[in-house]
Amino acid sequence: MNENNSLAVITGPTSGIGKAFAQELANQGYNLVLVARNKPKLQELIRELTDKFNVKIKGVDADLSVAEDIAKVEKVISSLSRIDLLINNAGFGVGGYFIEVPLSKQLDMLTVHLNSTIRFCRAAIPVMANQKVKGNIINVASFAVFIDVPGNVMYSTTKSAVVHFSKTLQCEVKDYNIKIQALCPVFTPTSFHESINRDLSFMKNIPDFFWTPVDDVINSSLNGLHSGSVICIPGRFNKLIYWFNKFPLFSILIQKLTLMLNNRDKAPVINEIDEKKKEKVSLVESEVVD
Ligand SMILES: NC(=O)c1ccc[n+]([C@@H]2O[C@H](COP(=O)([O-])OP(=O)(O)OC[C@H]3O[C@@H](n4cnc5c(N)ncnc54)[C@H](OP(=O)(O)O)[C@@H]3O)[C@@H](O)[C@H]2O)c1
Repeated sequence: MNENNSLAVITGPTSGIGKAFAQELANQGYNLVLVARNKPKLQELIRELTDKFNVKIKGVDADLSVAEDIAKVEKVISSLSRIDLLINNAGFGVGGYFIEVPLSKQLDMLTVHLNSTIRFCRAAIPVMANQKVKGNIINVASFAVFIDVPGNVMYSTTKSAVVHFSKTLQCEVKDYNIKIQALCPVFTPTSFHESINRDLSFMKNIPDFFWTPVDDVINSSLNGLHSGSVICIPGRFNKLIYWFNKFPLFSILIQKLTLMLNNRDKAPVINEIDEKKKEKVSLVESEVVD
C-alpha cells in the first residue's frame, strides 16, 4: 500500500487525459478519488487500477452538469483529511455557432467546466491549507482560449474563465503552500473530438506537429507543478506558438490558419423565428404625462 498516503481527486477519469492521469498517479502510488458519471466505466477503471497497482481507490458517481451531483462531490472533497492533487479535468466540446448550438448544452458546459471547477477548488483549499504537505490543483483548460475563431464561443469562454480563475486564485493561495495550474493542451488524440457533434473531416487537415500525445500532456502537466508558472502548455512547438501569438500580426495569421483548418468561416443561416413559439408577454404601457 502507498506508504505516504498521497491522494489525488480526478474528475472525468473514464477516458483520454483524465484516464492517463489516473493511470500515471496510481503507478506513482497515489490513492485516488475518481469522479465520473458513467458508473460501469468507473467500476471497470477502478478494477483495472486496483488489480495493477497497490493503491486504494474510491469512486464517486456524478454528472457534473447536475447541481446536486456537484454538491455530492463537494461533500466528499470537504470530508478528506488530505488532498495532494485535485484535477478538474471533466469537459466536452460542442460543434457549432453560438446561435445554432442548443442553449441547454451551452449552459451545461458552463456548469461542467466552470461551476464544478470553482466549487471543487473552494472545497479543497481549506483541506489543503490545513495539511502538512503541499496541495496542487490542475484545472484543465485549453489552448483554444488564445485563439478567437467562430464555432467555439462557449468552449473558449468557459475555458478562458478557468485560466483567469486559476491565475488569480494562485495569487491568493500561495501562502498556504498550494500550487494552481491551468493546463492548456492543443490537439490531443482522445475521444473528445468524436464526441463533438460535427463533421470531423477537418481533423485530417491538421498537421501531425499540432497533435500532442496524451502521455506528453500529463507528463508536462505533472512536471509543470514544480515550475513558477500557472499556465502549462504541453509541447515545445505549442509553447512557441503561445509566445509568438502575443504579437498581433502573428495572432491574425494563427487565427486565419485555424479558420482554414476548421473550415468554419461561414455563419449558419438563422431560420425565421417561429411566430407560434413567441410567448405573449404583457408589457406595462408607459403613460404620457402632459
Ligand atoms: N483532446 C483535446 O484535444 C483537448 C484539447 C484541449 C483541452 N481538452 C480538455 O481536456 C479535458 C479532457 O478531455 P479529453 O480530451 O480527455 O476528452 P475525453 O476523452 O472525451 O474525456 C472527457 C472526460 O470528461 C467526462 N465528462 C464529460 N462531461 C461530463 C459530465 N457532465 N459529468 C462528468 N464527467 C463528464 C467524460 O466522461 P464520459 O466518459 O462519461 O463521457 C470523460 O471522462 C476536457 O476538459 C477538455 O476540454 C482536450
